[in-house]
Amino acid sequence: MALMKKTKSAYVCNDCGASYGQWQGQCGDCGQWNTLTEVAVAAAAAKPARAGYAGQTEAKITALKNVSGESQVRIATGLNELDRVLGGGLVEGSVVLIGGDPGIGKSTLLLQSMASMAAHQPALYISGEESLGQIAGRAQRLDLNRDALMALAETSIEKIIAHCQTAKPRIIVADSIQTLWSEALSAAPGSVSQVRECAARLVRFAKETGTSVFLVGHVTKEGGIAGPRVLEHMVDAVLYFEGESGSRFRLLRAFKNRFGAVNELGVFAMADKGLKEVANPSAIFLSGHSQAAPGSVVLVTREGTRPLLVEVQALVDQSPMPNPRRVTLGLEQNRLAMLLAVMHRHGGIGVYDQDVFVNVVGGIRVQETAADLPVLLAVLSSLKDRPLAEKTVAFGEVGLSGEIRPVPNGEERLKEAAMHGFKRAIVPKANAPKRGQFGDMEVIAVERLMDALQAAF
Ligand code: TYD
Ligand code: MG
Repeated sequence: MALMKKTKSAYVCNDCGASYGQWQGQCGDCGQWNTLTEVAVAAAAAKPARAGYAGQTEAKITALKNVSGESQVRIATGLNELDRVLGGGLVEGSVVLIGGDPGIGKSTLLLQSMASMAAHQPALYISGEESLGQIAGRAQRLDLNRDALMALAETSIEKIIAHCQTAKPRIIVADSIQTLWSEALSAAPGSVSQVRECAARLVRFAKETGTSVFLVGHVTKEGGIAGPRVLEHMVDAVLYFEGESGSRFRLLRAFKNRFGAVNELGVFAMADKGLKEVANPSAIFLSGHSQAAPGSVVLVTREGTRPLLVEVQALVDQSPMPNPRRVTLGLEQNRLAMLLAVMHRHGGIGVYDQDVFVNVVGGIRVQETAADLPVLLAVLSSLKDRPLAEKTVAFGEVGLSGEIRPVPNGEERLKEAAMHGFKRAIVPKANAPKRGQFGDMEVIAVERLMDALQAAF
């Protein structure tokens, strides 16, 4: 009898995807217990096929100036907001992962985009979650052009690749990567090893054939896609689709992009006929009450290349606890603690016996330091129970020695505020025009935190 070929197995962590030759109780990479599962090492995985960049067998060192740069062919996705986040359209042969909570609108977004792209090149929508009938029903309800779009309800990656090799689509959606499975592995669909293997096959197919691939990934409880980070390094771009429950606005954000800038933001609104683009989202994050309220300050932030008017709200309340709470939504909590310390030291205002809650309206996350000054103004406004003067905006970074530091693109921010009818702006001195005026808007330049607090109240 011929010797049976021994199948090799590996042990893969379900959380982080680290791989080991032997079973062990704790993952050495992420420290989680009992997360290793045995997987058969697929023959294909054991001998990785080199995705043939220029089909070279032997690599050699070359002066970069002698290499002509690849120019990327970009495909318009039919949705300008999606194009913007991708960096100007979908790059041919690229693999884009779209992550988000279940029900946020990932399938809707891609169905709309695919229906539009299918008019110009063969496009295939592969669904492992919905039946063809459900997809067709949705396309019909959204009044999408169904003439050219191909669909496939299949979860076996081997069959999917075989179908793609015959149908030769130029764009593929795999919805979702968690439902796909390979017969080379014994693990259940959705496990890290399956997700990784199926994604790897699709990436290889994309690179070999120049097909563009969208992978849909559900975000797990911990906030990662299918066991955190296992896919992020394999794909060319990672986009997150997010939104606040109860709000119809959806934000599409680039988290990684090999072909464009990150932090570019796409804004959509979920309507009864699918996702509508919001081309000028500047003011949608304002809470909309007409009167100035205590604890509420409007700031001008920047997301990618465009300015956004966003409202921060603070609530300061006598704390019943020995350790008062500092809670932030949409901002970094440590930053708030730091700002409160600066306000105490350099503004003489302490909140050590108060709970402080800060929220950014509209479920948006502000990651820049330009929010520092508005946050402190909101906290002080709530503490004093006095609103800022109506139609006031603010921005500026607060330094540890109580100085107000300039932020990039000051003029553009002022312009946006003036355009939306704001009458007064409190800004860092270096960002303020010399005349103290920007159009009809009064601009108050501040250098120290003390000046800012006095100017505001
Ligand atoms: P879906 O695209 O199925 O989400 P995902 O693929 O991310 O899980 O979106 C489903 C939600 O969107 C559903 O709760 C209903 C809502 N929706 C609308 O409000 N209007 C519409 O036209 C469509 C298609 C969906
Ligand atoms: Mg879906």
